Amino acid sequence: MTIPSRVKLIDVGPRDGLQNEKQPVPAAVKIELVHRLQAAGLKEIEVTSYVSPKWVPQMADNHEVMAGITRLPGVAYSVLTPNLKGFEAAVLDAPDEIVVFGAASEAFSQKNINCSIAESIERFAPVVEAALAKGIAVRGAMSCTVGCPYEGDIAPERVAYLAGLMKGIGVQRVDVADTIGVGTPRRVQAAIEATLQHFGIDHISGHFHDTYGQALSNTLAALEMGVWNFQSSVSGLGGCPYAKGATGNVATEDLVYLLHGMGIETGIDLDALVDAGAYISEQLGRPSGSRVARALLAKRAG
Ligand code: HMG
Ligand code: MG
Repeated sequence: MTIPSRVKLIDVGPRDGLQNEKQPVPAAVKIELVHRLQAAGLKEIEVTSYVSPKWVPQMADNHEVMAGITRLPGVAYSVLTPNLKGFEAAVLDAPDEIVVFGAASEAFSQKNINCSIAESIERFAPVVEAALAKGIAVRGAMSCTVGCPYEGDIAPERVAYLAGLMKGIGVQRVDVADTIGVGTPRRVQAAIEATLQHFGIDHISGHFHDTYGQALSNTLAALEMGVWNFQSSVSGLGGCPYAKGATGNVATEDLVYLLHGMGIETGIDLDALVDAGAYISEQLGRPSGSRVARALLAKRAG
């Protein structure tokens, strides 16, 4: 397999990145972040979640954020919908893609969405059906494909099992997520290999949290298998509230630097992306989690 010459990035910063922030982030800031990301050339942005505000208070402004975005043609805006209630709320805001999110680990499924893997698929099935009937694309996020904060190592067979269930209900593409960033290249490759039993390479994306500093290595390992869709978070923001201690996604700036350095096209303007990251870091009152952004900002200042 040759390494892809073009990669598509979904910035999940406004959703995965901000969902775990303890202080409320104003909707206007989230909207401005989305605007800056699209100005930097991002063609897919995961904007928000339609989940219980009791479980994830930071996403309670989902409608306000979606309604406040000035959409650009050619940009796809996705949102998380765990059940029909979430889908019905989301559909009023006309997302381009909805995301159902399950886990390869039973314990994580219970902690995150309060049901078993089998029950989650029963809940997702009508959501997927309703979305497809309305011409809305459907992605499935698969959490804990390498390791789980409650169960430890997750075997590839369990990833294949979940991918098969997702395929069975009509999910069009899936994210192989390393929720707690414990994966290393060969283990991530095994999770992708397991997913390939049910989805083609064009329908698999990598979603690697960087808790253990392995996300770029894991990205390279996925690229070597031909994966060309990845999720990342500007400034490396984020973490899942139900995966304690897990830090953010790989920073979009770091990923873009890696990809451009390898001659792989992304369509993203790294300087404008660094500006978007500087904006949100300033709003959150802390330095960027992206090493590339910090290096480039220091170079600019010098
Ligand atoms: P539940 O308690 O089992 O749901 O929660 P329920 O149907 O029994 O309803 C209980 C209450 O929640 C009711 O309200 C419902 O109306 C309300 P009450 O009567 O108590 O006032 N409710 C909702 N409200 C708004 N939107 C909804 C909704 N559904 C029910 N859609 C539920 C089930 C899934 C809702 C809950 O567990 C939940 O919201 N969990 C949050 C999960 C989450 O957002 N996790 C973070 C995102 S996943 C992630 O970060 C991983 C990912 O990045 C990949 C990776 O890295 O692994 C994607
Ligand atoms: Mg995540």
